[in-house]
Amino acid sequence: MAKEKAVKEIEDLPGIGPTTAEKIKEAGYDTLDKLCSLAPHELSEISGMNADNAKKALDAAKQATTITYSTGSEVYGLRKAIGKITTGSKELNELLGGGVEARAITEAYGKFSSGKTQIGFQLSVNAQLPPEAGGLGGSVLFIDTEGTFRPERIEAIAKAADLDPEKTLDNIFVVRAEHTDQQMSTIERADKLIREKNIKLVVVDSLMALFRSEFIGRGALGERQQKLNMHIHKLQNIADAYGLAVYVTNQVMDNPAILFGDPTTPVGGNIMAHAATTRLYLRKSKEDKRIVRLVDSPNMPEGEAVIKITTSGIRD
Ligand SMILES: Nc1ncnc2c1ncn2[C@@H]1O[C@H](COP(=O)(O)OP(=O)(O)O)[C@@H](O)[C@H]1O
Ligand SMILES: [Mg+2]
Repeated sequence: MAKEKAVKEIEDLPGIGPTTAEKIKEAGYDTLDKLCSLAPHELSEISGMNADNAKKALDAAKQATTITYSTGSEVYGLRKAIGKITTGSKELNELLGGGVEARAITEAYGKFSSGKTQIGFQLSVNAQLPPEAGGLGGSVLFIDTEGTFRPERIEAIAKAADLDPEKTLDNIFVVRAEHTDQQMSTIERADKLIREKNIKLVVVDSLMALFRSEFIGRGALGERQQKLNMHIHKLQNIADAYGLAVYVTNQVMDNPAILFGDPTTPVGGNIMAHAATTRLYLRKSKEDKRIVRLVDSPNMPEGEAVIKITTSGIRD
């Protein structure tokens, strides 16, 4: 009996030839380990294989990769090395434990004009700073679903940070998405851009707006949440694979079930709630002041910071 070839690479998996392997790699799954994070239907979608074959290939990939364990200290060492983007406000940085973290999704939700987009602009500038100055030394992919990207604001914020406004703008790759398909495929096909342009921050402003306007009514909710889940899964995937930060904004609604206290609730349901590593609730205060509440964080206590939205950007 012929001995089966040892599985070392994606090409070695049953049912996967060079063309299919290339498709899978282009989608960002260039190692067996990364491939193992996919569900059969996801692999099937990426590769065009049928679900049965996708499952067989994944089973073989799982058998070929061994699970390695790290000690708590090793994980701690790695965590200390994770980069953070300064927000421009010392108080807000402290609330976040240093800034907006790489390898994670940070969500800001709040009413209209609460400052969600302005924080996105500030982060798009600051991500370009070298690590010693509070950045990630990379460029930015900015998905604008509401038509509110303003280069003038980037220019002003960059000038205030002593950066060349033109260069700063050249390092921000803006996609104006008008449909969820566009929004999703921008992220699904982002790997090439991320590698070539050293993208270190992905902004999705806003994450839910198009999903809400396209999937209307109870009947569409299941499909909406399923697509949203895939989208968020992919965002988390690229955050991990490339060590980049993901900042998403989210809309709110009044939850009629909350009778006492603030009924403002982010949209997107459980899927959104579980997806964000860190959630921030932005509220308008007097004049240019905004209150930022840390609602959910794996390692920081709940708390609030007061920031100002100025012409130069986010400040204490
Ligand atoms: N050039 C500027 N100087 C000072 N404040 C500004 C400037 N541009 C916008 N803002 C403030 O930002 C607020 C809008 O914040 P934004 O982040 O766009 O809200 P949203 O939460 O809806 O995304 C406005 O209230 C406005 O006062
Ligand atoms: Mg906005």
